[in-house]
Amino acid sequence: MNGTDRPVTDAWIGESLLYVLRERLGLAGAKDGCSQGECGACSVQVDGRLVASCLVPAATTAGSDVRTVEGLAQDGTPSDVQRALAASGAVQCGFCVPGMAMTVHDLLKGNHAPSRLETRKALCGNLCRCSGYRGVLDAVEKVVKDRAEAAEAEAEPVADTPRIPQQAGPADPTAGPVPHDPLSHGPHHEGPGADPRAGGAV
Ligand code: FES
Ligand code: FES
Repeated sequence: MNGTDRPVTDAWIGESLLYVLRERLGLAGAKDGCSQGECGACSVQVDGRLVASCLVPAATTAGSDVRTVEGLAQDGTPSDVQRALAASGAVQCGFCVPGMAMTVHDLLKGNHAPSRLETRKALCGNLCRCSGYRGVLDAVEKVVKDRAEAAEAEAEPVADTPRIPQQAGPADPTAGPVPHDPLSHGPHHEGPGADPRAGGAV
């Protein structure tokens, strides 16, 4: 459960995961809106898959990795999705928000830049009766933008990376003969104007 073992030994075999979360483990983040799989307020992840916990028998999740909205925060800091939902005005009464947050995390895990339509489709199982959905859509766009900027900043080369000296490339064989350098030690004609430094009588 959110990364730690939470054994449950006294549950009735038919209890839902939502009931066990709320009543036996004290995790009240997932909400009981309809108990019928219609509202999405009870959404949690079981082994990485988003489920309506009101429809899942708790016994079937024994040994599974269950993640609830309580597990989204890190070191007491709400996740970027949770912060964006709050900042965008998507949180009014708040009843739907834990489920919304779980759904948005699930969406962005598989699609790093969803279109508005894709976001709407992902949220179609989450009902909100207060705020409307515009704030949620805005929040998703903000998280996508912020994550992309953070990834870009991380990929930028460090400014003080040592410079690699540039070497001249090989000579171009099509450029013709190199002009004669009178001071060179290469083959040359002897004569009155011959370079005395090239050797021979002075
Ligand atoms: S309480 Fe589970 S979907 Fe509504
Ligand atoms: S904020 Fe109240 S139901 Fe969504």
